[in-house]
Amino acid sequence: MSFLITGGASQVGSVIAQLLKDAHQDVIIGSRSGRVPEGFQSTKLDWLDASTFQNPFKLPGVEIKSVYLLLPYGYVDPSENIKQFIDIAVRNGVKRFVLLSGSGHEKDADFGISKVWRYLDERKLDYIALRPTWFIDNFLEFHGKDIREHDEFKSVMPNAKIPLISVADIGQVALNVFLNDKNERTDQRIIGPELVTYDQVADILTEILGRRITHKVVTPEELSDHYSSSLGWPLQYAQFVVQAEQYVNAGSEERWWGNPENINGQETVREWVERNKSNFAPGSKAGN
Ligand SMILES: NC(=O)c1ccc[n+]([C@@H]2O[C@H](COP(=O)([O-])OP(=O)(O)OC[C@H]3O[C@@H](n4cnc5c(N)ncnc54)[C@H](OP(=O)(O)O)[C@@H]3O)[C@@H](O)[C@H]2O)c1
Repeated sequence: MSFLITGGASQVGSVIAQLLKDAHQDVIIGSRSGRVPEGFQSTKLDWLDASTFQNPFKLPGVEIKSVYLLLPYGYVDPSENIKQFIDIAVRNGVKRFVLLSGSGHEKDADFGISKVWRYLDERKLDYIALRPTWFIDNFLEFHGKDIREHDEFKSVMPNAKIPLISVADIGQVALNVFLNDKNERTDQRIIGPELVTYDQVADILTEILGRRITHKVVTPEELSDHYSSSLGWPLQYAQFVVQAEQYVNAGSEERWWGNPENINGQETVREWVERNKSNFAPGSKAGN
């Protein structure tokens, strides 16, 4: 019996794949581009190309019992295609789905992730929507290049206190829900072990990297333009992310703090920076 991880070498999917492998489980990676974590069997799977949806189920000797569903960032909504994929997966014996959502996404919203979530629910499948808060790992994915090249990172969040979660901790929760005999819940919010501001993260980076790292607060327009030009995101998508940051600044993530229904990750920002320190060295190639 195998686990299918969709989304190729995504941040969270790569961690889940490795944890499953470490737990002696068979893992197949579904990948659009062929960029997959090293050492894993993979198959072509592109949410925008329905002709690839049978591929994981045609692999000789492979019987997939559980699937991790990743909807990539972006402005194309692949949810109708993913519903088709879910039907195919169920017909081929898949018993459980783990969907990556977000702390602020609701099941009844008009986003692609919510549409897939509702579909899993309406079909009464065995599924869980993981709802992590803002990732600590954004400091590499979104801000790594700025920190390496300019010793600064930009945001529109002067006030936000965020229970930042590490991707490693999200992966651990996903591993458990995959391996449990039965999950009691169909959605699970996941937050980090502490509330931190971006100024505090700048101080932690400064101390651990041994050079002054500055958190620069800019206007929403400036940040959208910056994300778009520096990360290559479509402007509309960059604006969407910046709008999400504005919600975070207004307290959208702080409000989850102390809710007894959360799972709290363990890794602090300090521990995460220590673990990823080499990726912030000027000239290093990791992350963005
Ligand atoms: N960052 C945060 O703070 C945060 C917080 C809460 C929730 N989230 C959610 O987390 C998700 C992102 O997770 P992540 O960071 O682990 O992902 P990620 O590292 O951004 O990876 C996205 C993956 O999507 C794949 N992909 C792109 N287009 C595809 C397509 N048409 N078909 C199949 N795969 C495709 C890419 O594969 P290729 O390399 O093959 O192109 C890439 O590996 C988003 O849904 C976001 O809403 C993020």
